[in-house]
Amino acid sequence: MEERRDGATIKTEEFELIVETRPFGMRLQDQSGQLIFETAQQQAMMWQSQAFQCRMRMLGGEHFYGMGEKSNGLNRRGFRYEMWNEDFAEFDTSSDSRYQSCPFFIVLREGRAHGVFLDNTYKTFFDFGKESSEYYSFGAPDGSLDYYIILGPAISDVVDCYTRLTGRPCFIPRWGLGYQQSRFLEYNSEEDLITIANEMRKRQIPCEVIVLDIEYMDGYRIFTWNPAIFPSPKKFVSRLSKMGFRVMSIIDPGIKLEQGFSLYDEGEEKDFLLKKSDGSTYVGLVWPGDTVFPDFSRSEVREWFGSQYTRMAEAGLSNGSWIDMNEPSNCIYDGLKDEHSMKTVVDQNGEPWEPRLRNVYALGMAEAVFEGLKRAYPGKRPFIVTRSGFSGYQRFAATWTGDNHSTWEHLWLSIPMLLNLGLSGVPFCGADVGGFGGDTTPELLVRWYQLGCFYPFFRNHSNMNTARQEPWVFGDEVERLSREAVSLRYQLLRYIYSLAWYASRTGIPLMRPVFLHFQEDERTWDIDDQFMVGPFVLVAPVLEEEMRSREVYLPNSNWFDFWSDDLIKGPSRFTCDAPLDKIPMYIRGGAIIPAGRVIQNSDEEQGDLLLLVYPLGESEFTLYEDDGISQDGPYSTTQFRVESSDKSLHVVAGARSGSWKPAPRSIVFEFRGLPSSPATVSVDRRKKSATLVKLGERRYGLTLNDDGKRHDIILKWN
Ligand code: GLC
Repeated sequence: MEERRDGATIKTEEFELIVETRPFGMRLQDQSGQLIFETAQQQAMMWQSQAFQCRMRMLGGEHFYGMGEKSNGLNRRGFRYEMWNEDFAEFDTSSDSRYQSCPFFIVLREGRAHGVFLDNTYKTFFDFGKESSEYYSFGAPDGSLDYYIILGPAISDVVDCYTRLTGRPCFIPRWGLGYQQSRFLEYNSEEDLITIANEMRKRQIPCEVIVLDIEYMDGYRIFTWNPAIFPSPKKFVSRLSKMGFRVMSIIDPGIKLEQGFSLYDEGEEKDFLLKKSDGSTYVGLVWPGDTVFPDFSRSEVREWFGSQYTRMAEAGLSNGSWIDMNEPSNCIYDGLKDEHSMKTVVDQNGEPWEPRLRNVYALGMAEAVFEGLKRAYPGKRPFIVTRSGFSGYQRFAATWTGDNHSTWEHLWLSIPMLLNLGLSGVPFCGADVGGFGGDTTPELLVRWYQLGCFYPFFRNHSNMNTARQEPWVFGDEVERLSREAVSLRYQLLRYIYSLAWYASRTGIPLMRPVFLHFQEDERTWDIDDQFMVGPFVLVAPVLEEEMRSREVYLPNSNWFDFWSDDLIKGPSRFTCDAPLDKIPMYIRGGAIIPAGRVIQNSDEEQGDLLLLVYPLGESEFTLYEDDGISQDGPYSTTQFRVESSDKSLHVVAGARSGSWKPAPRSIVFEFRGLPSSPATVSVDRRKKSATLVKLGERRYGLTLNDDGKRHDIILKWN
């Protein structure tokens, strides 16, 4: 650091930061002298009492991403956001989703990225050129002025570093990646639920989880069962489990105010509930009527709440929890807002609770539930899906985008929302398939399954009094197409599970913006209707009613149509056919995708390891395998490599490393998109050539025993 009279310069091998103190200003450049950011030329720093605003100069051409699940498109430029957790079911592109706070954004300019994380839990704001085209800004009404600049220039490095800072995503169990079926209020008897489960199996629609929404509880008292519906929860859960289903139930934070209800009595007695400045317990209004709220900012309260899960474990419920209404949502009936306002709540020091702690309420709840599930189900990785959260909640939970609507706009909107969540360190996310509010239509449901089967969290859920939207309610065609989409998800489960493992180590999401892999191509920077699943699969779902074709952009690479194996050389923009039974999908040349046969739930043995291999490109991929659930159990990784040219294709399946052993199986290489039958095929460099089995016009198969050793396969053409 070199100090000057009015500032200082800080130099490292990677960057140089020039700070001026009179007036305040900063300029950050990389080692080649290229500007990364600069504070605004005038009023770079504004104060008003405790409030502050930091202004950064808009240099031109900036794209902004991140901010969590906010709902107006991929690029945040031109918008202003506020972080204030609220239950706001009316979100769409014009008024933002408010369930979560994520004071983190990524700036992409001239192909180079950096990130900014404002470490402040108050009602922070972010303005990306709405207030002025000269600068973008962020600030808070109070709290600390701590922000981190995270250097790229690769967006993936920014995401990696941001999740190193705020916490790596938890590694969810494999079943959390399976398909879930849910419905508000209308699965309200054991028989209803068993019927749904039976239909799934009878129709061979793979399904993992039957979800219990609030109606399973006794008068909406959390951690209880309605005896009229579930006289014996344990028996009921075990019936479903024999059919290969897990049962996951919803838990809200609010506790029914009722003397004699043990949770309420204990909460009062131990002084664990949110309090008002006059010392009385704060009372809100949620599903059970008068409701009180645990103070999750205290570790003893988190521990107590988490311990309640032993009861759910005793009933045989899966090691998961759907946690909802944790903004916290309150006053569900209109008109009573003032009376129940949380403004009167104080923290442990007697200071107003809302300004500083509201936004982290759900984060505390997620931690409580995560630790509680770990204790209730020793040795198993919990699966939590939360509606609200704050930066860092990815350590504990997955999320879904709350109460969306059964409209074509919301179908599309789920893409930018989930892509931005992924860039904000939350890789495990999904949107209600079919839409929550309003009536879905047969066509919308099909298209939603075709998109939803690529959501990391994949659940069909809907509101009461809306059209039913189980896959079979609209007749044979919708059922068949929904089944095909869910089956595809299970075929790709090994790939998706490996991506989930990777996400837990690096923060890199499963569902990725196209630019994550093609950052240098500016035509990808605004793509919000196509996305990548992992490094190999590009999905271009149909997002409009009656559309039977759509425009696709494939960046610079070789690509193969997943269905026809046709080669397409990128960059290319073209119109593809998209009849109702087709999901436009393209695979990068040189891809190697671990897959398997369709199974009805993720505990079923998937059998032979199928490897979908494509020529004309190079890649590496790590297959991760374990029992799908253990915290520190045996696991194995297998490294695959593909190298290819016009005349050859070389696949290396590395030796399996680690202590997990699969059941005896073969490795089935399925070479797709080959120009013709290769002249020679060698296995493990033996002279004697092996023969490929012709599977289709451009598809060939080769089967080896999976002995855990390295195998080299070389195909050559003259
Ligand atoms: C909230 C949730 C929704 C759930 C309902 C009842 O609206 O967002 O998914 O079905 O509460 O629990």
